[in-house]
Amino acid sequence: MAEQLKPDQSGFEEVVRGIPVVDARAVRKAYETGSARVEALRGVDFIVARGEMVAVIGPSGCGKTTLLNCLSGLDDIDAGDIHIDGVSLRQMSDNDRTDLRGRRIGFVFQAFNLLPILTAEENVELPLLIAGASGRRARRAARAALERVGLGDACRRKPVEMSGGEQQRVAIARAVVHAPSLLFADEPTGSLDSDTSTKIIELLESLNADGQTIVLVTHNAELSRRAGRIVRMADGRVTS
Ligand SMILES: Nc1ncnc2c1ncn2[C@@H]1O[C@H](COP(=O)(O)OP(=O)(O)OP(=O)(O)O)[C@@H](O)[C@H]1O
Ligand SMILES: [Mg+2]
Repeated sequence: MAEQLKPDQSGFEEVVRGIPVVDARAVRKAYETGSARVEALRGVDFIVARGEMVAVIGPSGCGKTTLLNCLSGLDDIDAGDIHIDGVSLRQMSDNDRTDLRGRRIGFVFQAFNLLPILTAEENVELPLLIAGASGRRARRAARAALERVGLGDACRRKPVEMSGGEQQRVAIARAVVHAPSLLFADEPTGSLDSDTSTKIIELLESLNADGQTIVLVTHNAELSRRAGRIVRMADGRVTS
């Protein structure tokens, strides 16, 4: 039944409350580059309940970023299935998946992916403008999101004029500006000093306390300790 439900239909919130936000089963994903084939995910099961904060940890190259890309529908999978709020990503068109991300999912990229010609504020506004918000509403929400990550004064600066840690925080502001119910964050404290890391950890905790489900990849011991659950990966598999 949940298969047919769309988030804008009445009753959706009641139905989804009881089912996992993320339900991934036997997910496989390989990359082909020239003659080489890398099996990045080799049968991953990964379930996240509503309101959880889960940390995914594991050595470099074990498939953490690939997993987040697949769970958020940014990347196609080769086998298995992924349901988000009870709806199969495989049964959605590209447009449906873009729409899902625009409304319900936030993503903090490991490499920020900020647009260099735009200011911090414009970078954060962009997803709202693409989703059809008015310029005024987008600006107000962008400023509030930048203030929430401690960058209220840096709205007009461009990424090249900012430190790595500041860019990281702009990337987080952009990911949460539309108040997504599900946030994926790939090394959200990867470029931050320990003071700024602590602020970002507190920010993620407060988003989680407000009801946002968070799946993050981290090497930061403090951040993984503060997550409600730790999932370990090795060599394309979940090990515990
Ligand atoms: N676009 C790609 N093309 C080819 N191979 C890729 C691509 N992206 C990732 N890989 C390979 O897939 C495997 C998993 O990569 P992934 O980026 O998911 O690892 P990771 O756990 O996020 O590592 P890190 O901690 O270094 O970020 C690695 O062997 C990597 O080299
Ligand atoms: Mg990675």
